[in-house]
Amino acid sequence: MNKEITQKIQEVFKSEFNESPLVIASPGRINLIGEHIDYNGGLVMPAAIDKCIYAGFSKSGSKKSRLISLDLKDEARIDHNKLAISTTQTWTNYISGVVDGLQRRGFEIPYFNLVFAGDIPLGAGLSSSAALENAVVYALNELFELGLSKGDMILISQEAEHKFAGVQCGIMDQFASMMGKEDHVLMLNCNSLNFEYLPLELDEYELVLINTNVDHVLSDSPYNERKQQCIDGLSMIQNEYPTIKQLAHASIDQLKEFKDELLPVIYNRCRFVIEEMARVRSAKAASKIKDWKAIGELLYASHRGLQHLYEVSCPELDSLVDQTHEYDEILGSRMMGGGFGGCTLNLIKKDSNHILDKIVKTYAKHANIPASIYKVRASNGTKILDLN
Ligand code: GLA
Repeated sequence: MNKEITQKIQEVFKSEFNESPLVIASPGRINLIGEHIDYNGGLVMPAAIDKCIYAGFSKSGSKKSRLISLDLKDEARIDHNKLAISTTQTWTNYISGVVDGLQRRGFEIPYFNLVFAGDIPLGAGLSSSAALENAVVYALNELFELGLSKGDMILISQEAEHKFAGVQCGIMDQFASMMGKEDHVLMLNCNSLNFEYLPLELDEYELVLINTNVDHVLSDSPYNERKQQCIDGLSMIQNEYPTIKQLAHASIDQLKEFKDELLPVIYNRCRFVIEEMARVRSAKAASKIKDWKAIGELLYASHRGLQHLYEVSCPELDSLVDQTHEYDEILGSRMMGGGFGGCTLNLIKKDSNHILDKIVKTYAKHANIPASIYKVRASNGTKILDLN
């Protein structure tokens, strides 16, 4: 828990509202493997991390909800009867989106106060937006006794992203942030939403993130276009194989039958999805026998696919991954999350800070921006903090 942030939230609550808030911690996420296949019914291996959005809430007697973002030094008021997408204060959309989702399910949501801040780096592909959505739905469920299950809350958070943030995302981020478990990754089936926890014990290795610090906003990126391309590819396959409901469930041989009919770009997108699904299965098997080398190779293969077939990488991410090949201490590296910026995930021997320093120095020379290094731990999902 980040005490400095929670104390600040309590202080602001005291001075602005003269009361003590209900405080929620809602984590960001990493993803070991299984990229861009959550919205194709695939298997993914994410984990919640020890970097969170911290959010204080209380009921309000006012005619609007008052929202304060400490990090952005901004505040807004929203009227639950006139919820609208904001183009000027885009951070409010995650909150309005959740309120909207609850109202559309028939809940009456009274007004509330919210003060929040976090230590999830923004725009780093670590799902700070899913963390915020989850914090809001979790708190409103508690404050107004809505009786929602975690499954309901995850879907409401995802819907907020679709309807108010404009990203047609899968379920992975919201699921991992809500359901994370200390020292475990989730093995999530995005089709059935069945999941299990797999221990993340990497022995002499650890997972380290390197942030390219390339500015990117997923709603501006061709994320939604990728999703549409997958739908197009699937509908071609379904002409012959109507029982295949999700692209991740098709086989490479089935896809190959349509090679001449599909546009090369659509073929490549589909090939990536089907191959990534196979890599997740291999990673699960390798993690059971602690074959870290095999997992490292799968990470590299995933990156190559994301770079060349799915085309969601960028030169900065590629340069970070390329450099890692020089070091035996690094078993694997790949871009993580939606792409077009954000972080690489590296499977690296513990105590290899000297290598990380070298990578970051070389990066700075070529990219003209500094990279940042984050060591993260797999942690518990969205929860209420007991601050007394
Ligand atoms: C973003 C989306 C997720 C997922 C990843 C890529 O983080 O929000 O649903 O699609 O990209 O794996």
